[in-house]
This record gives sequence, C-alpha cells and structure tokens, in this order.
Amino acid sequence: MALRKLVAGNWKMNGTRAALPELPEIEAAALNAQGRLDVAICPPFTLMSEAAAAAPLLAIGAQDCHHLESGAYTGGVSAAMIADLRARYVIVGHSERRTYQGETDADVRAKAEAAQAAGLIAILCVGETEEQRDAGRADLVVAGQLAGSVPPSGKAANLVIAYEPVWAIGTGRTPSVADVAAIHELIRAKLIELLGPEGTGVRILYGGSVKPENAGELMAVPDVDGALVGGASLTAAQFVPIIQATAAL
Ligand code: PGA
Repeated sequence: MALRKLVAGNWKMNGTRAALPELPEIEAAALNAQGRLDVAICPPFTLMSEAAAAAPLLAIGAQDCHHLESGAYTGGVSAAMIADLRARYVIVGHSERRTYQGETDADVRAKAEAAQAAGLIAILCVGETEEQRDAGRADLVVAGQLAGSVPPSGKAANLVIAYEPVWAIGTGRTPSVADVAAIHELIRAKLIELLGPEGTGVRILYGGSVKPENAGELMAVPDVDGALVGGASLTAAQFVPIIQATAAL
C-alpha cells in the first residue's frame, strides 16, 4: 500500500531569525505538492512561533519535547506547549539526543506518548551505529528500539517512524537502496507485530544525508514513505528540489 509521503526538515541547533526568509519558498513548494505529499519544518524552539507566522500554511514541528505536561522542570518544553504554537509534529528519540542526552527507549516512548496526548504526531527515530551494522546487528538493534520506544497506543494518525542510520547522518554516506528496502520491510513487519493493523498505515521515513541528488532514488524504495532531512533542509535551494523529487514519484 502506498502511503502519502511526508518530507520533514530538521534544522537541529541551526538558525536564527535571519533564516526565516527561507520559509515562504519552502511553503510555496509544499503548497504546489500538497495533493501528493505532506511537508513540515522543525526549527529550533526559539523560531517556532515566527516560523509559523512567516509561513502560515507550512506544517511546523519541534525537535524534542518533555514527557510531562508542566511543572518544575527548568528548561523543559512540553508537548502541550508545542501544540499551542500551531505545531503538528514533534521529533522524538533522534540519535543525537539518544547519544548526547542519554535518552533511552523508555524515555523516547514516554515522549511519544506525551506528544500523542497533546494531539501531535510523533516522528520517532531509530537507527543503528556503524559498529552495529558492521557486526551484522542492524536489524536486531532497530527491532529492539521499536519494541522499546513505540507506544502501544501508536496509530497511523499520530505516529511516524524515521529510520536514520547514525553513520549516514551528516556524513554524505547513505545505505544502498537494497539495504534501505530490507530494513524498511523489517520495520513495517515489526510495526504490524506491535500495533496490529494500525502498523500498516504508520509512515516510515528514511533519514541520513538525503540530498536533492539522491532523494528521487531513496524515496522510490518500497516502504519508504518520506524523508527526514537535516542539512539539506536549511535552505530552500536544497530543500525544495527534495520536495519536488518526492512529489514527482
Ligand atoms: P542529515 O541529518 O540530513 O544532515 O544527514 C538527518 C537527521 O539527522 O535528521
């Protein structure tokens, strides 16, 4: 079954207000492609409100959320606060947060549940390191991350998985089309095991060095239902061709 694709940009810790003029052009490309796919930008928290104002018809997401709704958690930002900004998505469990903030599968699951409770769509990231792939353990690692972090209440309408091999993020390297196909097929089977029939409708994005040059090839792989794009989402010049290549499929 071909699902409606989602192309989401993750600005990470990049961008000040000087970056906002990139958004109207991205919004225009998203509107042009609207019949065929969904587009979202996840800027830093500091830019979310102004991004929503600069491109009111573009879906906005956050890059993380706290697992609790409110309280004495200095520096925390809750899913309810994100939803209050007209945001639709929140990335949870990105490998950079798993690595640098020590987030566990249980943490990621709690965040995904908080996102869903706030009415957001969680983009839940999984992916193996290079060492794990070289040891032949990529499938096991990814299946384990899914088992530990996908909320049992996950639905096609409130959950998206992003498969992002850690070694492909920001490196310019990507897995072969055959490797992407194999692991996306495994993720689909695992989602059906965990969620039942809902698992057939959960979109599975590929992320890691998606560029205008490789987007068409990667987005055409079976069970690849879109892209999570880091570096190439920072400018309209790079991100728009990725939207267009995906819409052309
Ligand atoms: P990249 O990042 O496109 O810069 O490799 C992807 C991501 O980490 O989401």
